[in-house]
Amino acid sequence: MRARSKIAMIVDCDPGLDDAIALALAACAPEIEMEAITTVAGNAPIERVTDNALSIAAALALKTPVYAGAAAPLREKAHYSTMIWGGNGSLPIKRPRRGALTEPAMDFLTRKLEQAEENSLLLCMLGPLTNLGAILLRKPELSRKISRLMIMGGALGAGNATRSAEFNMWFDPHAAQRVLSSDITCVIMPLDLTRTVIPTSQHLKKLARSEHPAAQLCAKLLLSQTEGQPEAVHDACVIGCLLWPDLFDFERGTLSINMGPGPARGQTRFAPGDGPHMLITGVELTPFLDKLIWRLTAKGMRAK
Ligand code: RIB
Ligand code: CA
Repeated sequence: MRARSKIAMIVDCDPGLDDAIALALAACAPEIEMEAITTVAGNAPIERVTDNALSIAAALALKTPVYAGAAAPLREKAHYSTMIWGGNGSLPIKRPRRGALTEPAMDFLTRKLEQAEENSLLLCMLGPLTNLGAILLRKPELSRKISRLMIMGGALGAGNATRSAEFNMWFDPHAAQRVLSSDITCVIMPLDLTRTVIPTSQHLKKLARSEHPAAQLCAKLLLSQTEGQPEAVHDACVIGCLLWPDLFDFERGTLSINMGPGPARGQTRFAPGDGPHMLITGVELTPFLDKLIWRLTAKGMRAK
């Protein structure tokens, strides 16, 4: 995979600590132009994750528009990550002054896709796939407007929502399967890899010492949310893969999601071969973490 010089994209997310680190990294990257942030219920109810997205944007001095998305999975009741891992899902940062735009995220995304040229839109999916799943159910033909999806989700080994399912896929397996069964090219960043990407205490110290707004935000979140214990930065790996693709290994094939019900709900299956999915299978961990921290702390680079 080769890096492009300027990457325009929309980030669909459910912030979330690791979504916040991902947004901070994207904001610090001159190679990236973040056109919009759309939210989806997952880590917490839609009002809370949208509020978090707005707070993150304010902390990073981002003017990027924020659109609120789906409040519940396609077919079932929402079971937020706070119900599994505790907390109330509110990030400990200053509340936002501005609100989300009044246009719902699904309308915005549909409009963008309808107006886009074929094979032109890049979407980073950092939460459950409900927004896009709902759009493709109504207008399957819009899939051809998407150049690539970068998705955090899935687990071939142990899960985090259940023994076998990763949270984003487990929260809305029907939406996930709808998206993955389209012919869209997807780069999938699975939990098997992201759970190993944990900044060291040295990294946290570097973040805490930096005056850069992105570093301050990340230090505050990583230190406060984890009581000083470094935590995996799952969603940030997706942005890192866009920026530094050569640090990652992948295998081509086809991913599918168990739609349940039952204990296998949300479980990921991967069939290697000639499919539309690129499953990320490895990362050069130390260079990746060093680059992540360097970007977040880089002197003279202000968040956009
Ligand atoms: O399983 C990791 C994913 O779910 C990430 O997107 C994170 O935000 C979590 O809730
Ligand atoms: Ca997320």
